[in-house]
Amino acid sequence: MFYTNKTILITGVAGFIGSYLAKYILENSDHTVTIVGIDNLNDYYDVTLKGTRLTLLKDAAEIPANGTFVFVKGNLADKELVNSVFQEYSPSIVVNLAAQAGVRYSITNPDSYMESNVMGFFNILEACRHSYDDGAKGIEHLVYASSSSVYGANKKVPYSLEDQVDHPVSLYAATKKSNELFAYAYSKLYGIPSTGLRFFTVYGPLGRPDMAYFGFTNKILQGQKIAIFNHGDMYRDFTYIDDIIIGLSNVIQKTPVEDDNGVKYKLYNIGNNKPESLMYFVETLEKCLMEEGIISRPAEKEFLPMQPGDVYQTYADVTDLINDFGFKPSTSLYDGLRKYAKWYKEFYLST
Ligand SMILES: NC(=O)c1ccc[n+]([C@@H]2O[C@H](COP(=O)([O-])OP(=O)(O)OC[C@H]3O[C@@H](n4cnc5c(N)ncnc54)[C@H](O)[C@@H]3O)[C@@H](O)[C@H]2O)c1
Repeated sequence: MFYTNKTILITGVAGFIGSYLAKYILENSDHTVTIVGIDNLNDYYDVTLKGTRLTLLKDAAEIPANGTFVFVKGNLADKELVNSVFQEYSPSIVVNLAAQAGVRYSITNPDSYMESNVMGFFNILEACRHSYDDGAKGIEHLVYASSSSVYGANKKVPYSLEDQVDHPVSLYAATKKSNELFAYAYSKLYGIPSTGLRFFTVYGPLGRPDMAYFGFTNKILQGQKIAIFNHGDMYRDFTYIDDIIIGLSNVIQKTPVEDDNGVKYKLYNIGNNKPESLMYFVETLEKCLMEEGIISRPAEKEFLPMQPGDVYQTYADVTDLINDFGFKPSTSLYDGLRKYAKWYKEFYLST
């Protein structure tokens, strides 16, 4: 088994994707595996959800056959903390998922993006670089989260890795693109094998309350109108969390080989490869929520213009993922939202 005897550092481990990845590895490896997770548990959204995810991880690690889980509460922008974690645990795999996420929030809170996404990632890169000091084995693979937002307002679809991504429409997107450039430079300079993943709108149970499907659910329940931007004329490649985790685990296990420039660097799109219209998404969400008895009728809608930072459509070209792993996300929006609705009912509405 790939993960046997390895120590894997996952940043943003109390986050949506980080917690699923940590749980997946704990449950699908053996007791020789250690997951070290860092998270600053910031209050960008409901911190109790982060606490619940950590509890699930601690529970998973209590099963003797599973791996060990160590949680470190701290900020990636704290260089000493990051260095001390690397020194104490000497991870062989590093998965950087911590970030200030969200496109709209970056308009009003730019500082937090520079701190977490730029300084935080820089500290991770520096720690990876120094992991080879004095002939140490160092890290085998750095995997990090990028985002479909790097494609900005590109018109050509599906979004391909060959496309230009020099025109971000939000600071969030700019920080994610800069992460790819920083990682490339560190791979080139110090031989750090690294892979970036451009995630496309990830959703599912225990997901992020700042995202549309979650916010809509809360609003409908409170009897409020939901805001439909660009008058509903938008498309998103919605990607179910389980697909993301399988893709992520496949990618972690395949250290990139040197490319034509002698750099061990790879990038992948990971998206459902089937964009859905915003209105179909809302109808499907309403259907799933009604089937679970969470709501009794469709939401009242307020149709509004496009928001700054938003893009018209996202659509992933996943050819490289298919070629290298024989895998592409495939969960339908209905199946994914049904699982989300079941979870929401259980988590928030059962007494
Ligand atoms: N969910 C999506 O649809 C999506 C899409 C594209 C890219 N991404 C990227 O994937 C990654 C994971 O996203 P997610 O949806 O799990 O987000 P999330 O917000 O649920 O998880 C991020 C976690 O990182 C932690 N964190 C933030 N800044 C930190 C810092 N400075 N130090 C330590 N911890 C910090 C947060 O507390 C949070 O728990 C992020 O890099 C995000 O930008 C996500």
